[in-house]
Amino acid sequence: MNQDILLEIKNLYICVELDGDSLPIVEDVSLSLRTGEILALVGESGCGKSVTAQSVMQLLPKQLKIESGEIKMNSHKQGKIIDIANMNPRGSEIRKIRGNEIAMIFQEPMNSFSPLHTIGNQLMEVIRIHRKTSKSEAKEIAVEMLDKVGIPGAARVIDQYPHELSGGMRQRAMIAKALSCNPTLLIADEPTTALDVTIQAQVLTLMQGLQSEFGMAIIFITHDLGVVAQVADQVAIMYLGNIIEQGSAREILKDPKHPYTVNLIEAVPRLGRLEGRKALIPIQGSVPSLYDRPVGCPFVTRCTRVINNRCEETMPRLISMSTDHQVACFLYNPSEGESS
Ligand SMILES: Nc1ncnc2c1ncn2[C@@H]1O[C@H](COP(=O)(O)OP(=O)(O)OP(=O)(O)O)[C@@H](O)[C@H]1O
Ligand SMILES: [Mg+2]
Repeated sequence: MNQDILLEIKNLYICVELDGDSLPIVEDVSLSLRTGEILALVGESGCGKSVTAQSVMQLLPKQLKIESGEIKMNSHKQGKIIDIANMNPRGSEIRKIRGNEIAMIFQEPMNSFSPLHTIGNQLMEVIRIHRKTSKSEAKEIAVEMLDKVGIPGAARVIDQYPHELSGGMRQRAMIAKALSCNPTLLIADEPTTALDVTIQAQVLTLMQGLQSEFGMAIIFITHDLGVVAQVADQVAIMYLGNIIEQGSAREILKDPKHPYTVNLIEAVPRLGRLEGRKALIPIQGSVPSLYDRPVGCPFVTRCTRVINNRCEETMPRLISMSTDHQVACFLYNPSEGESS
């Protein structure tokens, strides 16, 4: 593994066990993330973004399991490459990583705080697990963290309970908690969808600021390509458990190749190249269920540019369009998958 790579996922398959059958939820996903970089994981509901993120922390729900593939991390704190995919989800090795080297901000902010303890006590607990500090030092750090994430009156908020904070403030407190252990990788699972638009923008700006101050890498999960344009260096577009396009965020937003990515971009008012009063173009149909996973390209049931006899039959491989842009679509790889 290259020294400047922080996290490398290779050919990851995650399956769900259903009535004795094993159904793939995440298929052949490969991703790599450099230290200090922001990677956005994008796609419609149910495409496997959260599951992929959970696997990096070995936090998959118990019906799901990593079937095969690699998840490796260059642990700065331990000074070695660690093999996350093969760690016991309940073992001590992963506990050294979770909430220490990798922190996660969950989709639902209430879940990451216990309603029974004050914000301050919960932050101090995290701080004291990861740094050798006295109680009063931990309290000082906790106030400092709340202050950093832009919570007014941090010294007072520290004695409040989670339900006493507004949604936006709770989100900020959750970010403070995640950052308290000084992680090298932060996974933020749709950290802004529950917030109103102005607060969303503030939280994004805040995370970007903290990213450059602390130098950590971030995996940012979102539905929203507008958010990608604002924060991401790299982007991976997922559809039905597969990455269908990935590479530099700038290049993909400017020159999307996959018909699905093109549709996603056209559905965003600020990014789509729509003129005048033309309405936004919603993507036709909906994501098929796991039980109806098409045989060939996962997007074939909604794609307007299907190549007959090919897209329905074979799953296109990711191919390189340039050094930092890959796409899995037969439009760009005319010979692959041709039945001879
Ligand atoms: N505990 C579980 N048991 C069975 N299936 C699950 C479980 N958790 C997730 N799944 C399935 O895995 C697939 C991917 O789910 P995931 O939560 O990763 O989607 P997502 O991309 O994060 O969607 P959203 O944008 O709605 O958060 C879905 O089809 C979901 O139904
Ligand atoms: Mg999710």
